[in-house]
Amino acid sequence: MKKRDFLHTLSFGALAAAPGFRKISELTKHFHGSSATEIATDEEFWQEVRAGYRLKPDYINLENGYYCIQPTETLENFIQHVREINYQGSWYMRKDRFRNKQMVANRLADLIGADHGEVVITRNTTESLDLVIGGFPWQAGDEAIYADQDYFSMREMFRLQEKSKGVVLKKVSVPNHPKDDQEIVDLYADAITAKTKLIMVCHIVNITGQILPIRKICDMAHARGVQVMIDGAHAVGHFDFSIKDLDCDYYGSSLHKWLSVPLGAGLLYVRKDRIAGLTPLLGSFCCEDDEIRRLNHLGTHPSHTDLAIINALEYHDRLGIERKEARLRHLQRYWSDQVRELSHVVVNTPLEAHRSCGIANVGIKEMKPTDLAMKLLEEHRIWTVGIDGHGVHGCRISPNIYTLKWELDVLVGALKSMG
Ligand SMILES: Cc1ncc(COP(=O)(O)O)c(C=O)c1O
Repeated sequence: MKKRDFLHTLSFGALAAAPGFRKISELTKHFHGSSATEIATDEEFWQEVRAGYRLKPDYINLENGYYCIQPTETLENFIQHVREINYQGSWYMRKDRFRNKQMVANRLADLIGADHGEVVITRNTTESLDLVIGGFPWQAGDEAIYADQDYFSMREMFRLQEKSKGVVLKKVSVPNHPKDDQEIVDLYADAITAKTKLIMVCHIVNITGQILPIRKICDMAHARGVQVMIDGAHAVGHFDFSIKDLDCDYYGSSLHKWLSVPLGAGLLYVRKDRIAGLTPLLGSFCCEDDEIRRLNHLGTHPSHTDLAIINALEYHDRLGIERKEARLRHLQRYWSDQVRELSHVVVNTPLEAHRSCGIANVGIKEMKPTDLAMKLLEEHRIWTVGIDGHGVHGCRISPNIYTLKWELDVLVGALKSMG
């Protein structure tokens, strides 16, 4: 479908009178001549981005990895969808809902470079990846590999397969400072046996911000007949990538994280030739075996959130992933470069530029991460989260596009004062 037809269809129904994105459009037009790298260091630009948010004044929010709140322009559009669908009621649900959901899924497929028909909208990464883990054609004795640093709810879903289907689980531990990509690839390669069927890998490890060499892991695994599922909870909307370049079999992400979609939206990518192999968790009334829609039937759910994905994508497109990625990368290095060499500080995120983006983790020697988080909040008004386990002892620091450098100066000053 052409983009014009697509917008026409949406504007017919729930997008009527949507407020639009005038402010972010004007801002990027004004800075049109500057490169993403130049803009990354330009506080004037980011001050204007910040003005497009309603921020709590109580603390400096460096815990955006949990949930990236919506800029006001996206929020206003979202509220308009809530009103419009409440106005249209079952008319919308019967006449527009499924078609619009499919169109939004297609836009998400375009964003990550997948084919239409390979992406569905879910509620979050947990749902996306658990649909794959639970629906995988396991036989007793099959083996799965994942890392200690992977997210707890997926590890738990694997444990449920162990109990109910006799799947054998193999665990690896990702080092915070790998010497090269091969060290990571070998970790997974060494755990593979003739019975291995599936590997789960984080695109970006949520507790440290380390970006893993996904393509190399997929190439190695595929050469040995093993499928790969990627946990991309923190990748979509954070940095630029294409699913085709990763060449994974399955990919899940949460859109309420770095894409700033309203809470409760995720995506699931399944490579076309893998769709028929999965068993859906919930019964659907649709579809051939090779249609991805059969995997995520939810029943009636908040359809206005699906529509707001389009708005978050509009904001995202206007800001531009190049500018966003360059800024997030700049912010992380701005603070971490100032403290990495201090003798009382431990940065748990690799130094090489391609191994991280906006997220990093920092600890103070001999201080419990929860104590550090409390000290940062109570003495310096900085909101973070303490991580204490799986080889990582420190606070995760996750700034967002509204973060300004003076806020990171407060963090750096706080960390220095703890020596
Ligand atoms: C790596 C990773 N995977 C999965 C999730 C689960 O995301 P959600 O709660 O949106 O399903 C998170 C949440 O922070 C995460 O960090």
